[in-house]
Amino acid sequence: MTQTTENPDDVIRAEHISKRFGPVQALRDINLRVARGEILGLIGDNGAGKSTLIKILTGFHQPDSGRLLFEGNETRFKSVVHARSLGIETVFQDLALVPDLPVYLNLHLNKELVHRPLPFLRRAEMKRRARESLDRIGINIPSVTAEVGSLSGGQRQAIAVARSVHSDAKLLLLDEPLAAMGAKEGGQILRLLDRLKQQGDLAIILIAHNYSQVVDVCDRVNLLQHGEITFDRPSKDTSVEELLSLVHAEYRLPPASGD
Ligand SMILES: Nc1ncnc2c1ncn2[C@@H]1O[C@H](COP(=O)(O)OP(=O)(O)OP(=O)(O)O)[C@@H](O)[C@H]1O
Ligand SMILES: [Mg+2]
Repeated sequence: MTQTTENPDDVIRAEHISKRFGPVQALRDINLRVARGEILGLIGDNGAGKSTLIKILTGFHQPDSGRLLFEGNETRFKSVVHARSLGIETVFQDLALVPDLPVYLNLHLNKELVHRPLPFLRRAEMKRRARESLDRIGINIPSVTAEVGSLSGGQRQAIAVARSVHSDAKLLLLDEPLAAMGAKEGGQILRLLDRLKQQGDLAIILIAHNYSQVVDVCDRVNLLQHGEITFDRPSKDTSVEELLSLVHAEYRLPPASGD
């Protein structure tokens, strides 16, 4: 178990969080924190508990025990909508986009611009803003009026990321945002995260399976193994080889018996 020390800049702190699904102990006694202007990399094998932890931090699941402090105050996130209203934005591994709506409306989901006093959607303005935010990320989408269902997996991921980063969030949770992306597009997202970090207000948790990308872009790395955080260290003191050897140690075959 890793213990964390108080830091007034912490946006989120999880203390002694546990979560069980029937016979599966998905998380046990998790302590985690991330501060303003910090990117925390969360790594671990399939089934280690990464998405479960993100889903607790975003109000999708309730923990069985432990507590969460958001900006220093103990908080119970009642739902994803509640957490979002506090400034917690999430790009889920299983993306929450609406396939039969166009790109620009997906980018404004639940934040549609309307003409007052009549509730007409300001479509032209939403299209312009959508184009601008996608251009800023540098992701190539054929048209903001295209239905999301017609786009490639990587393009859909880019839209989910664009939506969350342009939302004035305080905490951004990204569950494998690079999984379906090519090297060029993935690099653009990583550069975007780096720019957001330089601005210094946002706390980011990034789940990714590419350890060298995590060590490059994140300030600190947490390794989850079988529902426990077994490693918590600044990236500058972390090597990819060490992470790989920790993870692979679990799967090392016993030496041959010789008979
Ligand atoms: N809703 C659920 N009901 C039952 N079991 C679940 C549920 N969600 C997760 N689990 C189990 O909890 C464990 C952790 O799953 P989780 O999705 O958090 O892993 P992960 O680290 O995100 O893996 P991956 O890298 O494959 O995305 C797994 O054994 C999984 O089967
Ligand atoms: Mg996952």
